[in-house]
Amino acid sequence: MTAYIWQESWDRQQTAFMPDREERFAAMLTAVDAVTDGRAPRVLDLAGGTGTIALRTLARFPDAEVTVLDQDPVLLTIAGATLAGRATIIDADLGDPGWRAKLPGETFSTEAGDPGAFDAVLTATALHWLPAERVATLYGEIREVLRPGGIFVNADHMPEESLPTLSERLRARGRQLREERYESGAATSWAEWWRRAAADEVLGPKVIERERIYPSVSHDQEWTPPALWHVDALRVAGFAEAGVLWRGGTDAAVAGLR
Ligand SMILES: C[S@@+](CC[C@H](N)C(=O)[O-])C[C@H]1O[C@@H](n2cnc3c(N)ncnc32)[C@H](O)[C@@H]1O
Repeated sequence: MTAYIWQESWDRQQTAFMPDREERFAAMLTAVDAVTDGRAPRVLDLAGGTGTIALRTLARFPDAEVTVLDQDPVLLTIAGATLAGRATIIDADLGDPGWRAKLPGETFSTEAGDPGAFDAVLTATALHWLPAERVATLYGEIREVLRPGGIFVNADHMPEESLPTLSERLRARGRQLREERYESGAATSWAEWWRRAAADEVLGPKVIERERIYPSVSHDQEWTPPALWHVDALRVAGFAEAGVLWRGGTDAAVAGLR
């Protein structure tokens, strides 16, 4: 396994789903810069997989203190190798409220009511794997690990409710172009990427571990409500401000300020 090559191939596989993937990361990091006034930020890359957001955070803010949290043994292996010595890597299940206790001691106090110390919690293309009621509760837990004035950004599939026909057209055209990329070899499909990981001598055993965590290959239970659902849930969770930070077609990034 050459970690950075797996990292690159993960990015290409994900970019086939979201050609404007980098735009959302740039919008997130611009917001982080704004809330930290140029100071090196303390960032949690939540459900970070291979550490996509962590790597971009360090590229933009070289002195940033970065933590990656996920539960996928394959993606965490890649993250651990490419971020060695540069980030804290945490294996935790966001389905369990206990995930916060696994954070580095100085970033979250278990004393009830204490604010956390992250300047930013950033997540992308991940929380739609969780059930709706868990996402709503998780938003409150995320708020607790942020310092007052800190920011949470969630970029995900969040269609615009008032554009159902256009949203369907955007999705259909996106699928068509994706299939063309797979057929031409310009991109690797999700299923093919995992088949290749299973054949790798380092990642292969991790793929077997992963199958116990995620028994289903596809995520057909995915639940992708409109951005406004998320904005409401952030307000209910106690964020002082919540709104849409970025939109690209049927995807959006919502932000909450503690
Ligand atoms: C499509 S990947 C996105 C990874 C990364 N954010 C990116 O943009 O490249 C979704 C990630 O969410 C993680 N995830 C889903 N459910 C999770 C849970 N309950 N606890 C921790 N991580 C979870 C998966 O393991 C996976 O790494």
